[in-house]
Amino acid sequence: MENLITLVNKLQRACTALGDHGDESALPTLWDSLPAIAVVGGQSSGKSSVLESVVGKDFLPRGSGIVTRRPLVLQLHRIDEGREYAEFMHLPGKRFSDFAAVRKEISDETDRETGRSKQISSVPIHLSIYSPNVVNLTLVDLPGLTKVAVEGQPESIVQDIENMVRAYIEKPNCIILAISPANQDLATSDAIKISREVDPKGERTFGVLTKIDLMDKGTDAVDILEGRSYKLQFPWIGVVNRSQADINKSVDMIAARTREREYFSSTQEYRHLASRMGSEYLGKVLSKHLESIIKSRIPGLQSLINKTIIELESELSRLGKPVATDAGGKLYMIMEISRGFDQIFRDHLDGTRSGGDK
Ligand code: GDP
Ligand code: NA
Ligand code: MG
Repeated sequence: MENLITLVNKLQRACTALGDHGDESALPTLWDSLPAIAVVGGQSSGKSSVLESVVGKDFLPRGSGIVTRRPLVLQLHRIDEGREYAEFMHLPGKRFSDFAAVRKEISDETDRETGRSKQISSVPIHLSIYSPNVVNLTLVDLPGLTKVAVEGQPESIVQDIENMVRAYIEKPNCIILAISPANQDLATSDAIKISREVDPKGERTFGVLTKIDLMDKGTDAVDILEGRSYKLQFPWIGVVNRSQADINKSVDMIAARTREREYFSSTQEYRHLASRMGSEYLGKVLSKHLESIIKSRIPGLQSLINKTIIELESELSRLGKPVATDAGGKLYMIMEISRGFDQIFRDHLDGTRSGGDK
């Protein structure tokens, strides 16, 4: 199964690398049918922090105000051994092992597209992280929903952000990570509002409650975490991310995770929920869920991929052989990956028929 997610990741990357050649083939359809997880919520609700804790690395620009101004498509690749590194699609071959430099490049690349203003852009930044400490996942960090434009922003920004977020989460294959801060009334949660619109039954929405440590004394989040306040198909997961003071003091991720675990297991109200709370648990749940989705979609994906292979073959022959152009090379790469997929699907189905469990 690990293989399958790795292949989905590869295919997603290859589809994107193909860029402007994509509209000539079935690739956009294929891309849209692959599952990914998008993080949505109001500004400063803790979206980037949640993503970072799932990854277990400091690498995202965070803070108050509108920090995330372009979608960040983040692919996590589990490697068996070796040092972890990151690579941007716009800087192929350049391996970042310093994650502070990754954060700087995200900021710089955001500015390159939007100028240094507080403008937003729907053009995504693609980042891959290779590490022994991650689960195979594709995550999308999105600009935060907001209610008013600030100085220097056009009035249209509120609607523009909403439209951008909706474009990602309305796809039936998008798994929504709806981030709500516990120190605000759930009834005012932007994440719940927009996810309910596109997924009214809560079938592909995971509710994540952040800032539990910042709730008013005498109040707790038990009603929310136990699904009594707002019911979703999946249980709510509470997290405690690093505060701004922690970030300023460079409290590291390992220490933060340990402290988060301790928070849930030692707080009277949450002790009985502790085994299904926290960022580490969230990462595992998401990876498992992604696997089960891919498994259930195998037959559909298989026929789509076969169709893609046929279309790619005809596109390649139109380009002529030998395939010298860049476009040809990329098409070829996708075709190879697609063939790999086809083989894995066959193996999987064989395994299922013979009663094996892969
Ligand atoms: P985003 O705008 O939704 O991406 O939010 P960020 O992840 O940038 O977080 C906004 C601010 O809230 C940062 O200063 C974080 O340190 C802080 N923050 C996020 N989650 C928590 C949490 O669970 N507890 C505390 N105390 N602070 C948090
Ligand atoms: Na922010
Ligand atoms: Mg952010």
